[in-house]
Amino acid sequence: MPPASPRSATHVAIIMDGNGRWATQKGWPRLVGHRKGAERVKEIVRASPDIGIEWLTLYAFSTENWKRSTEEVLGLMAIFARYIQREADAMAAEGVRMRFIGDRSRLDPKLQRLMSGIEAKTAHLSRLNLTVAINYGGRDEVLRAARALAVEAAEGRFDPAALTEAAFSARLDTGGLPDPDLVIRTSGETRTSNFLPWQAAYAEYEFTETLWPDFTPAELAGILARFGNRDRRFGGVKA
Ligand code: IPE
Ligand code: IPE
Ligand code: MG
Repeated sequence: MPPASPRSATHVAIIMDGNGRWATQKGWPRLVGHRKGAERVKEIVRASPDIGIEWLTLYAFSTENWKRSTEEVLGLMAIFARYIQREADAMAAEGVRMRFIGDRSRLDPKLQRLMSGIEAKTAHLSRLNLTVAINYGGRDEVLRAARALAVEAAEGRFDPAALTEAAFSARLDTGGLPDPDLVIRTSGETRTSNFLPWQAAYAEYEFTETLWPDFTPAELAGILARFGNRDRRFGGVKA
């Protein structure tokens, strides 16, 4: 996949962080922050095509997030299910194609059915390609792809000599998606927390102090405008 034009960030990936702190600062339970965060997702999804984003990938739940309390984990899973149910028609009407990345096998079967249902329902759309990472971990994704390839090779269905970056990329959960141009993390943390380590190898990064429930389409538009001024050389020299 050739890199996107240096002046546009068509694929933006966001580590939506800070819901818990947002709620705690106000003396509310953490789940209130997650609910507000889901409202923000709606707004950002709606605004994205108008600010030139064609691909939007959101980190919603990591393979490490199972360490949280049962109440918080179940609450988050309920928010994901509700989001899919409530937003299905609006997304279809707005031309949003929804996909999921991550290991689904550990998720509740009912949530898994909702996920495949919305993927099928929106598969023909392309105004915005929305990908949500649930039970996603970059290392886990790479391991699953490597394991699948090892099985294919052991069964004689894949020649290890034919393993190229493209062939490996195609076996990741993100197979068929372009690499992200820009990764944004909210809440002031400056780490990537296992998000798209293979795909974001050449991405630009932006870190904002804003907590996710306070992140607005206007701030996103401002970040994109700054991104347009960056000089992406991809190992070459300035033209
Ligand atoms: C991000 O907000 C959402 C998830 C990781 C599910 P957090 O819940 O991590 O919020 P903080 O970092 O505790 O404030
Ligand atoms: C990263 O946020 C994962 C998501 C946004 C889903 P975390 O809050 O889980 O990350 P750490 O633990 O601060 O690195
Ligand atoms: Mg966090």
